[in-house]
Parts: sequence; structure tokens; C-alpha cells
Amino acid sequence: MSNLAYERDEGAYAAEDADIASMSQMRPVPRISIQAFCETESVASPIERAGEDRRMAKAHLKVHMGGVPTAIEFYQTAPTPNLIILESRAEPRALIQSLSQLAEVCDPTSKVVIIGHYNDVWLYRELIKNGISEYVVAPISMADIVGVISSIFVDPEQKPIGRSLAFVGAKGGVGSSTLAHNVGWAISNLFKSEVVVADLDLAFGTANINFDQDPTQGIAEAVFAPERIDEVYLDRLLAQCAEHLSLLAAPSSLDRVYDFDAEAFSQVIDTAQRSAPLVVLDVPHVWSGWSRSVLAQADEVVITATPELANLRNAKNLVDMLKKLRPNDPMPKLVINQVGVPKRPEIAVADFADPLGIEPAAVIPFEPLFFGNAANNGRMLGEMDAKSPIVQTVNELAHVLTGRSEVKSKKGKPGFGNLLGRLKLSKKK
Ligand SMILES: Nc1ncnc2c1ncn2[C@@H]1O[C@H](COP(=O)(O)OP(=O)(O)O)[C@@H](O)[C@H]1O
Ligand SMILES: [Mg+2]
Repeated sequence: MSNLAYERDEGAYAAEDADIASMSQMRPVPRISIQAFCETESVASPIERAGEDRRMAKAHLKVHMGGVPTAIEFYQTAPTPNLIILESRAEPRALIQSLSQLAEVCDPTSKVVIIGHYNDVWLYRELIKNGISEYVVAPISMADIVGVISSIFVDPEQKPIGRSLAFVGAKGGVGSSTLAHNVGWAISNLFKSEVVVADLDLAFGTANINFDQDPTQGIAEAVFAPERIDEVYLDRLLAQCAEHLSLLAAPSSLDRVYDFDAEAFSQVIDTAQRSAPLVVLDVPHVWSGWSRSVLAQADEVVITATPELANLRNAKNLVDMLKKLRPNDPMPKLVINQVGVPKRPEIAVADFADPLGIEPAAVIPFEPLFFGNAANNGRMLGEMDAKSPIVQTVNELAHVLTGRSEVKSKKGKPGFGNLLGRLKLSKKK
């Protein structure tokens, strides 16, 4: 942290009392990644201090010196975080100009806040119109920063910030859980964005084995005491598996029976979605009130199937049911897994996909040695061999399922809800 924070005069301390008062109502900021690019110490310093506020304890914040040009350079190679804060002393038109270059390297899902030095209504309107979340005029205080971040990510009126991805198998043993864990890990690792994996297979779940974890508490605590669940309690149940990945593990024990009512998981899933930008739901291959409700409510559903007749029949039933339950949502994604088991008669990929009316999002070969070694060692596939074609496929799925659709291309990539496209339009006027 910068020493500047301590070298403050009387006036600054008076301002801090006001800060404390205005911040007392704010809720904790979820597990988001934030990067700031500052041109002046007077902006960098309150941002750094905001990063140390207890409300920001879960967020990952990094402050870089250098403004928009440094950010553009930085994101040529690095993934963009959930939030980018940019300070710019540029005059309004030059600022808009430089942002169009940033949009080319910025993921559309990243939010952007600008701290400028011009109190200019035209600039403000132009930025908001182009998908910038907020424009704040310097000087700023630490409370301003925490306030802006809260207003974007913890507005209680707003929907939870996290998206949920539910993975379900067309049969047991098709690799749905393995895929859920590996895609979750890939998202956390590739995009440096927080992921919570929830293992909903309380009796037999394997996430604890696959991530080499032995947590004493986990999802059972949450579903058996839904009234206790809030972000703080959830935190205690999460086991950290990787830098940006935590697990809500299943007890994987038969001491209890697990007869849940239909909404048993709603509270914990909702809380997880308020605390992380992505929640991966590993849904077991069962059809019950609660599993149907989890699948019906997820933002995205991934069906894993192997190329056999019973899988096709079940996948077809699942797809038809999901279309009925979620008429206004995109079709579920289909992964055909374990293709090419020696001597096994298999349905060709095209013949499998055709009756479902879904183009498979991925086709993964049967590789028992690779999958077996990873599982036995409690490692992810990407940790075993990052170069493997299967890992490349998992990484592509990570892109598709987070709306990044393809590996970051430098050209013509719309950012901030299509800032680039709109800027081109407004330039023509
Ligand atoms: N493509 C594959 N090739 C070989 N083995 C696989 C493949 N995908 C998954 N497996 C293995 O299949 C077994 C069942 O996987 P799992 O993810 O538990 O299935 P599900 O959750 O659908 O019941 C695991 O041992 C896993 O390592
Ligand atoms: Mg499973």
C-alpha cells in the first residue's frame, strides 16, 4: 500500500469520518477481480486504500500506474478482469478515442469505470451510452471507490452478479462431473475470475476427490440449514482449491438420506451467485423435484452424453423437457464424451446430434489413461498436461460457456457491450 494514505492533513481525516459514515451501509463486494490503471497518485492512493477495506476483502484488486495506453498494452496478452477502473486526464474527445482501442482487447463481460478530470455532461452521456458503467470526476475518495464498486456489483435490486452453469449427464458415468470440474477450473485459471463449484451429488459426489480436498463441512450444511445461509456463512463452507476456485463439496457419505424438496438448493445457489461471478453446478444424474428445479433455473445447462442409444434417448428427453421449462432461454449445450471406446458400437456424432437439433459444443475422445491419472492424483486435466488436445477442448468450452465464444482475437472484438461498434457509428455523425 502507498504511504501516501498516512501522510494526510487534518482536512483529509475529517473527510474520512464522512467516508466511514457513508460506507457503514454498504454490503461486502463479491469475489470479483478488479484492475485499476491510474495516472496520478491522488487517484491511485484512495483506490489502494479501498482495496484494504473489509467490504473489499473478497475482491482481488491490483493497481497499476499508467492510464488507458498502459491498459491497452496490458490486455493485449492478459485476460480482462470483472472490473477495470481507468483514470484519464485526456480531454473528452481524446478519451473516447482511446477507449475505442481498449474495446478491441477488452472482453465484453468486463465492466469499466472511468475516473476523469473533466466535469463534462457530453462526455458522461457518451460514456454511459457506450456501455461504460460509471464516470467519476477526480478528486475521488476511498468511499467513492467502494461506493461505485458496490453500486455495480452489490445493488440489492439488481440480479445476482454470478451466472450459473449446470452440468448434467444423460446417464451416470458419462463424465458430466469431470467436465464440470475441469471447465470450472479452466474458467478460473484462464480468465482469473472467481468460480464456485457446487457438488450437488451429496451421497456420491466426486468433486472432493477430483480437487484433492477433504473439507469437513460443505454443501450439506447449507441445504440442511437454509435459514442460516448468507455470504458469510457460505464463505466458511467453501474449500479453496485453486487461486480463483473454491468448492462447495458434497459429504459423499451415506450416513444420512438426501430427500430434498424442490427448492432445497435455491438459497445456497442464490447466495453463491451473489458472492462469485460464476457458479458451476455439478448436478447428479437423477430426476427429482430439486434436480429439475436446479436445471430449470440455471443460466446455462450443459448435457454430457456418450454416443450410445440410451444416452441419445435420455438426452432427447432432457432437451425436450428443458425447452418446455425454459422456453425463453438458449438451447442447452451438448458435449459428446468418451468417443472411441475400443470395440464399442457407437452412434456417429452427426447422427447423435441431429435428432436433438443441437450442434455439439464439444466432442471429447475416450482417453482412460489421461482421465484416470488426473482423477487418481486429484489434479485437473489442465494441470496434468496443458498442451493436450482434450485440455484445448475444455478451454474452448470455458470460452463458449462464458460468452467469450473464441480465443481472444485482436481484431474487431466488441467490448463494453459493443463499445467499438457504437463508437464507429457515433464517429460517422
Ligand atoms: N473422455 C473420457 N475418457 C476416459 N474416461 C473418462 C472420460 N470422461 C470421463 N471419464 C471418466 O469416467 C468416469 C466417470 O466420470 P464422472 O465425471 O464421474 O461421470 P458422471 O458425473 O457423468 O457420472 C471417471 O472415472 C472419469 O475419469
Ligand atoms: Mg457426477
